[in-house]
Amino acid sequence: MRLSNEEAQKLIHTLRSGTSPLYQSNAFICGREKELDEYHHCLKLLDKGNGLVKLITGQYGMGKSLLVNAFKQIALNEDFIVSSFQINNGFRLNKIEDLYYAIMHNLTLKDNRYAKSSFEDIFELWVENLQGAPYADRKRYEVNTVCQELSRYNMNFARAFLTFMRGRIQRNQEMTNVASAWLTGEHHIPFELKQKYNLSGAVDKTSTLDFLKAFVKLITLLDYKGLVVFIDEIDLVLGDRSDFRQNAYNNLKHLIDMTSTGEMTKIMFVFSGTDQILTNTEKGILSNTPLAQRLNFDSVEALEQNSTHQTIMPLSSLNANELIELTRRIVRIYRQNAPLPETLDDLSLYAQIVKSINESTFATRTYVTKLIERLDYASNFIEGK
Ligand SMILES: Nc1ncnc2c1ncn2[C@@H]1O[C@H](COP(=O)(O)OP(=O)(O)OP(=O)(O)O)[C@@H](O)[C@H]1O
Ligand SMILES: [Mg+2]
Repeated sequence: MRLSNEEAQKLIHTLRSGTSPLYQSNAFICGREKELDEYHHCLKLLDKGNGLVKLITGQYGMGKSLLVNAFKQIALNEDFIVSSFQINNGFRLNKIEDLYYAIMHNLTLKDNRYAKSSFEDIFELWVENLQGAPYADRKRYEVNTVCQELSRYNMNFARAFLTFMRGRIQRNQEMTNVASAWLTGEHHIPFELKQKYNLSGAVDKTSTLDFLKAFVKLITLLDYKGLVVFIDEIDLVLGDRSDFRQNAYNNLKHLIDMTSTGEMTKIMFVFSGTDQILTNTEKGILSNTPLAQRLNFDSVEALEQNSTHQTIMPLSSLNANELIELTRRIVRIYRQNAPLPETLDDLSLYAQIVKSINESTFATRTYVTKLIERLDYASNFIEGK
């Protein structure tokens, strides 16, 4: 795939700062064929009605975010809804109801992949079609059928969704907003408003996973294949209080159980973070035996033999051939906007750069930023700067 000059410029700028491109990741990623194959396989399994959890680990700058960005675009292309966010001050993994809220507030849809979408956006097309339907019966029938399906997971969710759809079809903004806030896990809805629209209960510890199941059912009724949830920086739980951290691990364990037993289907959780989550024996996953067992992870040494079919997907550094291929691609993209000497060859660039990096600090990021630095120098030289 050839990038436009503007895209090429942006991509080089992103790489210069050591970060990963969001949208060109697929065209650019090198040497992750095994991981990409496995991911395609996972999406097929999801479509067939399975649930999955994956944990991508690797040292700083090894390419986790780039791989995750590629995964997101693939999921969108394959008609999944994506939700992506990271562990941060506002969101920790220790409360499962916060997970639901985070999922619902970080959605991306295929037709609007360059921005976040709201819960309401998902129903745009359906509502449009329903509003254009000549018979009121047809609207009622379609909406009721969906609500009936949802009521098998959670009655309150189904009722709130009915209110939401009524609001949308009748163009009652207040009704739509209140129902949508409730459905997406907002906690601060004024009591009078909840009463006015007959919304009872709330997303709490016990109902969260039913809500999530109902939501996945809902989107599959709208012809999406399922939901892929990406949660980055999982290793930040290492800095949490130990009871919070153990809660987070227990939640992770619970998600693995729910997806592997078939209780939660057509949903995949992709966690990513540095390998400290594995290597830190005191605070990492090894500190929670039931979780470590579910991940088939009993020692850091055993990880090397871990296949991509396992829940843990450990990223190793790119080999020489892959780095040379990466060099070739970056040089080609760089040349789109700036002159480089004709004599510059990928192999000697590779040799020079590898030599300039201390082996113990080697990461793909270091390689890429050093390469761009070298290209900037060569290009400035030609331009006489
Ligand atoms: N397989 C790869 N192919 C091409 N470029 C790569 C690859 N892996 C990493 N890079 C580049 O290296 C840089 C660092 O990658 P990325 O941000 O994905 O690392 P990370 O593992 O998420 O790092 P951190 O631990 O700091 O979050 C980015 O510029 C990315 O584009
Ligand atoms: Mg990252």
